[in-house]
Amino acid sequence: MSSTSRITLINPDRPRAPQPAALPAIEVLSAEKIYPNGTRALLPVDLTIRQGEFVSLLGPSGCGKSTLLKMIAGLIEPSDGKLMLFRRDRRESQRDVPLSFVFQEATLMPWSNVHKNVRLPLDLAGVLRAEADTRVREILELVGLEKFGHVLPRELSGGMQMRVSIARGLVTRPKVLLMDEPFGALDEITRNKLDSDLLDLWQEQKLTVVFVTHSIQEAVFLSQRVIMMAARPGRVVDDIRIETTLTRDDDFRVSQPFTHYAQQLQRGLFAASQESKS
Ligand SMILES: Nc1ncnc2c1ncn2[C@@H]1O[C@H](COP(=O)(O)OP(=O)(O)O)[C@@H](O)[C@H]1O
Ligand SMILES: [Mg+2]
Repeated sequence: MSSTSRITLINPDRPRAPQPAALPAIEVLSAEKIYPNGTRALLPVDLTIRQGEFVSLLGPSGCGKSTLLKMIAGLIEPSDGKLMLFRRDRRESQRDVPLSFVFQEATLMPWSNVHKNVRLPLDLAGVLRAEADTRVREILELVGLEKFGHVLPRELSGGMQMRVSIARGLVTRPKVLLMDEPFGALDEITRNKLDSDLLDLWQEQKLTVVFVTHSIQEAVFLSQRVIMMAARPGRVVDDIRIETTLTRDDDFRVSQPFTHYAQQLQRGLFAASQESKS
């Protein structure tokens, strides 16, 4: 996975030809959520995420990040409004738009080895064993776990378990990867490494990624766009493009543009939280 070069979102040496805008992958149309107990988790949200974009949802606990992601995934229904996937109503397109969800907990089957854990979605889909095994081996290589197929999850570090979880998400060849604070439980060094590897996967697999985090640094490092959210009530307050000519590697983390964006997001979150209190 680390053999590929790091991404540069804008190549400074090449004038940018005007690109036709990519088609929408996800459209959230005035979707809001009130839970059955009366909690207003999310005010109406309007949001378009285009094919191939890497978008983060950033905000404090309780601002509705998970709620929005679960609505996109179809795990919960909006109370009002609707969602489209690849220009079709999400409820219709659900079956044929490959979409994967990666949670904070790796949620691996402890009694099954890494290979079988990653193969699970293919087994459930009825993919023939030989074909499934080949795909599992390919994906384990992609996430740097090719030597660990026979190992049980408990023998792996937290970071490696999360790689297994990502591999299981990617084995179905999704177009859209939804990630809910996937690296939140990991130490910072491991998290930074997985962030970098995720960018490689995003680029290689031409994924559309929606990534939930409450870390400003992680959002700046990863995203082309950051959707800033605030709590009480949960809502979207800003939509910020992270544009840089720098390659997103460790040097980027200590660069002036990185600091600039981190400060901008910090100020935005602070202002939004002040608004909530008043
Ligand atoms: N199943 C649920 N039933 C009732 N309230 C919920 C449920 N899930 C989340 N909430 C509430 O909705 C709000 C948004 O939650 P959530 O989407 O989990 O926020 P975040 O992921 O940003 O921390 C919070 O006030 C939370 O307590
Ligand atoms: Mg959450």
